[in-house]
Amino acid sequence: MKILVTGCSGQLGFDVCRELDRRNIAYYGAVRSDFDLTDKKAIQQFIEGYKPEVVIHCAAYTAVDKAEDEVDLCRKINVDAVKAIADGCKLIDAKLIYISTDYVFPGDGEKFYNIDDEKNPPNVYGKSKLDGEEIVKDLLEKYFIVRISWVFGINGHNFIKTMLKLADSHADLKVVDDQIGSPTYTADLAPLLCDMAQSEKYGTYHATNEGICSWAQFAAEIFKLAGKNVEVTGQPSEAYPTKAKRPLNSRLSKKSLDEAGFKRLPDWHDALDRYIKELNG
Ligand SMILES: NC(=O)c1ccc[n+]([C@@H]2O[C@H](COP(=O)([O-])OP(=O)(O)OC[C@H]3O[C@@H](n4cnc5c(N)ncnc54)[C@H](OP(=O)(O)O)[C@@H]3O)[C@@H](O)[C@H]2O)c1
Repeated sequence: MKILVTGCSGQLGFDVCRELDRRNIAYYGAVRSDFDLTDKKAIQQFIEGYKPEVVIHCAAYTAVDKAEDEVDLCRKINVDAVKAIADGCKLIDAKLIYISTDYVFPGDGEKFYNIDDEKNPPNVYGKSKLDGEEIVKDLLEKYFIVRISWVFGINGHNFIKTMLKLADSHADLKVVDDQIGSPTYTADLAPLLCDMAQSEKYGTYHATNEGICSWAQFAAEIFKLAGKNVEVTGQPSEAYPTKAKRPLNSRLSKKSLDEAGFKRLPDWHDALDRYIKELNG
């Protein structure tokens, strides 16, 4: 088996490459200098040249607030490039693992979203990821769409690193407590994606760490596990207006993982504990 991984300078791509190393599976970990996702021709030439059996597409335009202003660039990377990758996969009959987001859903209420529930992305980034999903579904049969949320990994920026930095200069912090979801540790997700790559259980999946929390609860647990003395006070989202609207409800049902016989990811408290140990080397 030979795998192409995109976005290896990002959080998820980095951990997918580490997992493939562990499994002794041949892969190419692509970064921007191998092909830029705004260059459709370069994408296709690379895929046709390397001829992977699986593409794990971890690269994306991920600047959620900036996307509201950079709509064209966001769509070039999250929609047009996905079309070029899917076209390439079709041509060489490769499987595609496409990473998507909880932001494809409207994010209201308190239900756990099932994979086929009504979509209505609250922002430009979410719409671009949903359009990417549609392209993958329309063009390919051998695909996995994996929706994740609140991502953290060793290689890149995330909420945990921001909180730990703030802990150096703050004794108390106000954090949003009305957005509910599940964190996703890339080191836990990577083995599942590799299991999928080695299977034929195509379809759409939700794959976050188990358990739900608010950002405020997540922050409090970060400080507890990192041994930082920071008081967290919950705040409503209205107190922190952001350029891109955020969903209040990011609860994702994992039923499709169970039905396909894939193992759910560990609980987020456990994931966070291991991540903080990883950060501390
Ligand atoms: N982060 C989250 O909370 C979150 C939540 C839900 C879903 N997701 C999805 O999960 C996946 C992985 O996210 P992540 O957090 O690992 O992302 P990330 O750390 O922001 O990394 C993004 C990757 O995409 C690459 N990239 C961006 N624009 C590119 C371009 N024009 N050409 C080539 N490469 C380009 C980046 O390369 P450079 O280093 O060169 O910029 C980087 O390697 C993405 O599909 C994302 O949409 C993320």
